[in-house]
Order: sequence, then structure tokens, then C-alpha cells
Amino acid sequence: MAKPEDRVERLRRMRDEARLGGGEARVQQQHARGKLTARERLDLLLDPGSFVELDTFVTHRASDFGLAEEVYLGDGVVTGHGAIDGRPVVVFSQDFTVFGGSLSEAHAEKICKVMDLAMKNGVPVIGLNDSGGARIQEGVVSLGGYADIFLRNTLASGVVPQISVIMGPCAGGAVYSPAITDFTIMVEGTSYMFVTGPEVVKAVTHETVDREHLGGAAVHTTVSGVAHLAAPDEADALAAVRRLLSHLPQNNLGEAPRLPARDPAGDAASLDAIVPDEPNQPYDMHDVIVRIVDADSFLELQPGWAANIITGLARVGGRSVGIVAQQPSVLAGVLDINASDKAARFVRTCDCFNVPLLTFVDVPGFLPGVAQEHGGIIRHGAKLLYAYCEATVPKVTVITRKAYGGAYDVMSSKHVRGDFNFAWPTAEIAVMGIEGAVNIVFRDEIAAAADPVTERARLVSGYEERFANPYIAAARGYVDDVIEPRETRDRLIRALEFLADKRDRNPPRKHGNIPL
Ligand code: HXC
Repeated sequence: MAKPEDRVERLRRMRDEARLGGGEARVQQQHARGKLTARERLDLLLDPGSFVELDTFVTHRASDFGLAEEVYLGDGVVTGHGAIDGRPVVVFSQDFTVFGGSLSEAHAEKICKVMDLAMKNGVPVIGLNDSGGARIQEGVVSLGGYADIFLRNTLASGVVPQISVIMGPCAGGAVYSPAITDFTIMVEGTSYMFVTGPEVVKAVTHETVDREHLGGAAVHTTVSGVAHLAAPDEADALAAVRRLLSHLPQNNLGEAPRLPARDPAGDAASLDAIVPDEPNQPYDMHDVIVRIVDADSFLELQPGWAANIITGLARVGGRSVGIVAQQPSVLAGVLDINASDKAARFVRTCDCFNVPLLTFVDVPGFLPGVAQEHGGIIRHGAKLLYAYCEATVPKVTVITRKAYGGAYDVMSSKHVRGDFNFAWPTAEIAVMGIEGAVNIVFRDEIAAAADPVTERARLVSGYEERFANPYIAAARGYVDDVIEPRETRDRLIRALEFLADKRDRNPPRKHGNIPL
């Protein structure tokens, strides 16, 4: 019989062995690739000393292809729980030094176990992905393992926040786990996501493409919209996770932490002059946002994709809010297919996690054109409309300038249950732009006039006087108040305070049928 101290010694040896992952040489290779190990990443992500590892001694149970001789404690994924800013989270961190982080039956079971823990206990799930995909030697068992994870991703959706960080390869069907989670963050230069890799693309299409161009961080944050953020390095990516969670509750039954209010960066009085006189002149909506939200609280999501709409989390008076705002300096802030998809998903993310929505409107309408119609702008625009209609969190809207046509209805209008709708004096709420409206309504008068140009100008100015303002909407109560831009922050703080205990619900049903 071994002595007790020998048994403790054995445990320590096994723990040391597990910590080494796939061995010193592979750890060096990992570092040489510019990547940290699974455990080094957890050290950066979690509050110091908070990590509690589970399933350290799990190994695979496969024996084909010589696997019986190649066994690593932990089987290529480090799992457990820890804390971020003192709040519990569960984590899994794939270890590329063990079989390229590939997913075996046992590896999948470890991930599923912490996901189940997260669901039962209402804590966020953070997945650090660095994997060659299904463990080839295990075949269909590994595919089953992925499906077990996808199912849990889906069942956890809207229950606990799920964040994926891509820190190496994430290819094949494996991409669908991050795709179902709420947020995906990629590391520039070392991470990539694609359904079919460059070799398959070449075989099928004869196109030669490198990994970066197929699915690197730049592609997914500017072209495809798959990822929410790209970080220059791993430490930054992990810091972004911490920042993201600071805006979110632990689960759908909680609320985001309330922090002390901080005065905004920038001078509120300068808001009064921010909207240009000329309706077609652009301005940067970020200049509005930073003058209203708490200093340094704005975390923009998907900044490089569909930049005609801005989405991001911030705090106003210490309360977490989700901001959706048109960006007049990109495509005049028009709603197109990608902007609709981007904002719709964000609105639903906020709604399921009880984050109030703050919407800044300056929208000339939906983008006209064959490409948009053929691409299904009807179907995509409907997502955003549906998302706003469905949302029951506090909804506060500020119309800064244009709110034209159907886009007026969509953008958190009173009619779709906006709780407080404010307009700046520069707001123009109308069916369409003035020039277009005059051309249609007064076509005959203009054609018949002795001097059509002068007549047209006269009609435009008359129309402007009558319709291009917020007071017709205000007279009907479609906006609750017209406010000076400099008053906006104060009014928003009071609105959010008032709405803090808002109760609203949708009719009972299995689930709605959002036009996907
Ligand atoms: C088993 C794997 C593996 C895998 C990598 N390894 N991927 N082992 N199953 N899927 C092993 C390698 O054999 C190698 O072992 C070590 O991990 C590191 O891999 P390298 O190739 O040396 O690294 P690198 O050059 O950086 O290339 C990484 C890679 C490449 C691009 C991921 O390894 C690769 O293409 N792997 C195969 C990817 C793949 O086809 N996966 C299955 C896809 S199907 P040694 O012992 O040499 O260190 C799929 C479906 C999911 O994933 C479906 C879900 C529904």
C-alpha cells in the first residue's frame, strides 16, 4: 500500500502533468505562433486566483489510430469556473498543444458539463476557441460532441450571456458554436473562422485564397459581420470580454451592475450646434453619443461592419444601456440589409438580458436599389422592425434629425412601444424627404408654373415650414417632448430611472416567428 504522502505526491505529479498540456515542445510552438496557452489565457481573463479547474483528470477513451498510447490529462480543454470583477463565470479554454485542441467525445463532455453548470446557476459562459475541429481519429463520436454543444448553446441563448473568443483556428461545423453565442471576439493575425478551408475552396472553386482573406479577424469584422470585435492581441481580446460582461447581467433574471455615474466626455452645450443646418450635410453620431453617455463607458460593437448604424453598450448615469444609432456620416445613416441585421440582433441581445434600449434616430429611410431589393431588404428590414416591436425592455428614443418613412416607425417609435420618445428641435418627421415630397405632391403645379424653378422653391419652403419639424408629431403625442439637445442626458437619466421597474410582456406563445 502506498503511504498517504505518496498518494498526495502522485496527485501533485498528475496536476503538474495536466498543466503541461501537450508537453514543453508544443507549448514552445504555441508561443512561437504568437499564441498563449489555454491556462495563460485564463490567468489573463479571470480575477487573480479565482479559477477553479474541473475535470483535470479526464482523458479520451479512444484507441484507434494509436490513440491508446497518446493520452493527455484534461484531453485538450481546460474547464472550470472563476470570477470576473467578483462575479462568477464558467469557462472553457481549448488547449492547442493537445491534438491541436481538437474536439473528442471527452473534450465535448467537459464543455457540456460547465455549460450545464452555467445554466443551472445562471452564470455567463466564456469559450476560448483554439482548435483543429473534430478529432479526426474519433470520427462521428466527435461530431456528436459538437452537436451536444450546439444544443446547449441554443438552450442557453437568452438565459445566460455567452461569449466566444477565437484565438486560433475555428473551422468546419465548429464555427456554429460561436455563431450561436451572443458575442464573438477575434484576435487579429492568429485567429480565423471558416466553414470550408482554403484547400476545399481550391478543390471546389479553383480559387486560391489564404486563411486570412477567407476568414481572418478583418474579414469577419468588416465584410461578413460574423464577429463583434477584433483585438490586436490576446490580452486585448480577453480584456474586451471583461468589459463586455460589465454591461450585462449574470442571466436573464438579473440586471447589469449599476456603477457610479460619470460625467460625459465633452461639453453638453455643444450638442445644440451639432446637427448641421443643411439636411444633407453629415455629422458624426459618435460626437452625440460621447456627449451624453458616462465617460469611457461606450463599448461599440461591430464598428467596422454596416457602419451606417452604430450599436454598442454604454452607461447613462451609471445604468447600462444598449445604444442603436444611425450614423449620418456613413451612407447618410440609411437602413440597408446589413444595418438591419446588425441592429436587429443587437436589439434582441439587449432585450433578452434586460438592458434598456436607447435609440438615436437620423434616418432618411431604407436604401433604394435593385441590389437591396433582390437581396431581400424587405425580409431583413422586417427583422429590425420585429425586434423593436417585440422588445419589452425600457425603450427611449431621441430623434436628432430625420425620421422618414417606414424607418420612422421601425426606429423605436411610440407606435412600437417606445416608452419615452424625444425629439430635438432639428427633427423632421415625415413620410419622405422634402424635395421628393414636393416633386410628387405638387408635380402638376410645378409643371404648369410660368417659372417652375421659383415655384418649386416656394413650395419646398412652404412644405418645410409646415412639415419639417417635430411639432406635428408632438401635437399627436407621437413624441413625448421636444427637448434642447443639451438637456438630453438629464432627460435620459430621468427616463431610465422612471423605467427601472418597467413590466411589459408579449402574448403567451411557444415563440414568435421572426422573419429570419
Ligand atoms: C486530430 C489534429 C487535428 C484534428 C490538428 N491536429 N487538427 N488532431 N484531429 N482535427 C493535430 C495535428 O496532427 C498536430 O499534431 C497538432 O494538432 C497541431 O497541428 P498542426 O497541423 O501542426 O498545426 P498548424 O500547422 O497550426 O495547423 C492547424 C490546422 C491543421 C489548420 C488546424 O492542423 C489542420 O488543418 N487540421 C485539420 C483540420 C480539420 O480538417 N479538422 C476536421 C474538420 S471537420 P502533432 O502531433 O503533429 O503536434 C470538423 C467538423 C466539425 O471540424 C463538425 C461539427 C458539426
